[in-house]
Order: sequence, then C-alpha cells, then structure tokens
Amino acid sequence: MRLFIAIRFSQEILDVLLRAQEQLRRSGAQGNYTAPENLHLTLAFLGESEDLITLRRVIDRAAGRAFPLAVSGAGRFGELWWAGVEKNSELEALAERIREGCRRAGFHVDSKPFRAHVTLARQLRYDAPPRINVPRTEMTVARVSLMKSERINGKLTYTEVYGRDLA
Ligand code: 2AM
Repeated sequence: MRLFIAIRFSQEILDVLLRAQEQLRRSGAQGNYTAPENLHLTLAFLGESEDLITLRRVIDRAAGRAFPLAVSGAGRFGELWWAGVEKNSELEALAERIREGCRRAGFHVDSKPFRAHVTLARQLRYDAPPRINVPRTEMTVARVSLMKSERINGKLTYTEVYGRDLA
C-alpha cells in the first residue's frame, strides 16, 4: 500500500483552509483541489510498503511531547498552491526524527529538506492570479498518523492505519 506519515488538523484549522480554497474557487480558479477530508501536513512520504510493524515502531520511537503548531499565509511552488505552517522547531525536530528513523529502517525518504506546507490545490487555471489569505490559526499537535493513500471508485482516499498520541 502507498503510505505517508502526517499530522491531521483540528476542525478550526480545517475551516480556515476550506475558506482559503473557497477564495480560490470564487476568484474563478479551476483545477485540482484537495478534497476537504484529505487536507493534512505530510511529515514523510514513504511510497509502497506493507511493513506496518516497522513503521509503527519508527513512529513510536520518534513520538515526543505534544506541541503547538500554527498555519499562516499561503503561496505557490510552481503548480502547487499551499497554505503555510509557521516556523516551528518542535515540528522540524519531530519530522527529522521520523524521517531519520524511516531511513534507518530502510525506507527511502526524500532527501530534500522538509518544507512544511498544506497542499490546497494544484494545476489551477485562471484569468487573473487568485489571492488567498490564511489567517494565523493555532492547534496542538497531539497525534502522528500513518496514512494509507488509495483510489476508491476513482476518488483519492486517505485512511489512518496507525495513530500515535503524543504525550
Ligand atoms: P504534496 O502535497 O506536497 O504533494 C500524500 O501524497 C502526501 O505525500 C502529500 O502531502 C504529498 O505532498 C506527499 N508527498 C511527498 N512526496 C511525494 C511523492 N513523491 N509522491 C506523492 N506524494 C508525495
């Protein structure tokens, strides 16, 4: 199965992200929007694996204490439109522990530096460049999720296959 490790958002942050997608839509931008239930923050993308036992161990070892996280602002990398995540040393340390643990366990994890972002949409087409505003909104990160990605009846579907609560 196709796997990645992620942080899932509070309802308050999801509402802010949904409003940002709504701004894009209202400005006439058409394209590939992340489905509301799929909005998340990826810590590590793993690709195909069936080895849930090893991944659980990696996540359990990497998990530390709960910490605050804030989304804020938006932008684009090429065709990908994102909402930003405020610079956060606890988040970076958690992502690094997870990514390094996965590598040590033999998984291939992208060697590019971790750039926390939330993908709102891709490949947008528009007449005038859309403007979006993501007001700073905080949550407590209290869980790390191992997510399975699959197409079900053509629809991209993410399901948590393991979750580890942070202390
Ligand atoms: P993205 O939103 O920036 O594309 C599930 O696909 C998650 O894993 C997404 O958050 C995606 O990030 C991330 N990801 C990172 N590398 C990926 C890759 N090579 N293929 C698919 N998804 C990847």
